[in-house]
Amino acid sequence: MCRTGLYVILALDMKYAFILGRNQELSIAELGAIFQSLRSCKNYAIFFDGELPQKPQDFLNRLGGTTEILEIFAENLPQADILNDVEKFLLEQSRAHTGKCAFALNLWPENKKSQVLKFLLTRLKKNLRAKGVSANFMNKNFQNVSPVFASKQGLIGSKTNIGILDVGDGKVTLGATVALQDFEAYSKRDYGKPFRDPAVGMLPPKLAQIMINLANPNEIASAATILDPFCGTGTILMEAMLMGYSVIGSDKDARLIEGARQNIDWLQKTFSKSVPGNTHVKLFQKDARSLTAADAIAKAPVGGKQQNGSLSLAVVTEPFLGPPLSQFPAENFLKKLMDELEKLYLDFFKNLAQWLPKKTAVVFIFPYWKKGSSRQSLASHVVAKIESLGYSKTTFAPLKTTSLLYERPDSVVGREIVRFVKVVRP
Ligand SMILES: C[S@@+](CC[C@H](N)C(=O)[O-])C[C@H]1O[C@@H](n2cnc3c(N)ncnc32)[C@H](O)[C@@H]1O
Repeated sequence: MCRTGLYVILALDMKYAFILGRNQELSIAELGAIFQSLRSCKNYAIFFDGELPQKPQDFLNRLGGTTEILEIFAENLPQADILNDVEKFLLEQSRAHTGKCAFALNLWPENKKSQVLKFLLTRLKKNLRAKGVSANFMNKNFQNVSPVFASKQGLIGSKTNIGILDVGDGKVTLGATVALQDFEAYSKRDYGKPFRDPAVGMLPPKLAQIMINLANPNEIASAATILDPFCGTGTILMEAMLMGYSVIGSDKDARLIEGARQNIDWLQKTFSKSVPGNTHVKLFQKDARSLTAADAIAKAPVGGKQQNGSLSLAVVTEPFLGPPLSQFPAENFLKKLMDELEKLYLDFFKNLAQWLPKKTAVVFIFPYWKKGSSRQSLASHVVAKIESLGYSKTTFAPLKTTSLLYERPDSVVGREIVRFVKVVRP
């Protein structure tokens, strides 16, 4: 990962807050896979002391589950001190960035009915003006500002988008936003790519990023190549390329391989600055149940000979999950589908176990079917069978769980993410 010398010096003794996305478990598990120790965790944010692996915006661009990074400038204050500390901080910023002081305040967790913002915003504007600073707040209707608006108003560069984070016991922590999720880039990758196929199911790019990060937890050997053996339209491969991995994608359907190729070509042109020049891409049509070790080597053989370098690999995939459904299926249909999927998954893992190196991570999605508040899970009885083939399911630290759920409120089919590690050679 790139980082400048200057940035490393400045980053010493830094403290950050990561504002979590809507699916908090996924967001926490993603950060837990990247950082060995997270200081504390609220249901809306995680706090971290130390150096970020990259500049904040570059780092945030690799995280699917965090919406914002704040640099902390005051901690555990009584609420009565907020005005004073924010004013002091904004005065410092206005000296560093000459001209007008446009600022915003945001409450975390968000509270749309609070009168606190109104009081703080008006007092801050008055106090700063009394000190000769041409200050103006950007909040509309005394509510948090939207990330798009904050970034368009230049509040990130000037470090004047301030977060007031409730840390319990009547105390707050204060931070300035240093990075915001790039909504436009995600939307472009999700909806602007040339080949889309709703029938195949479309994995959101943010979920693909989270899965890739989950595949590289600290305690498991880190991978240089991501393999997706059910690659479909190539969502996981594209996100992995943007994160600096070489990629290998295969699918049994030639039409989808052609579509994934179109999407990857488009990505390389549209996001050319973000895809490293040395990224290797290998795409081919094959049934995932018959992949071999040679298939999983990213670089083309040199001079026709097979390279015998080690497979620095992680498998990240969303396999076939059954047909898209608009309502909960009939019992016999579901039973047949579950049997069929179980067989596909077991055959896939059995073949993979023959050549996958020990300690390699496999991040895999299982479908579940929702009816009201009940869930019919496939993972609950297939995971143990997969483990018996030479894998071990792993816990998503700092959580205690071995599976993470992702669902849309109105969908019948949900996704259950499980991470296995290859433990023994058969
Ligand atoms: C749910 S889709 C993957 C979608 C992908 N994550 C995306 O965002 O486009 C599952 C894919 O598995 C492929 N597939 C189904 N059975 C397969 C098999 N036995 N071997 C390889 N690919 C298979 C299908 O053609 C389909 O493209």
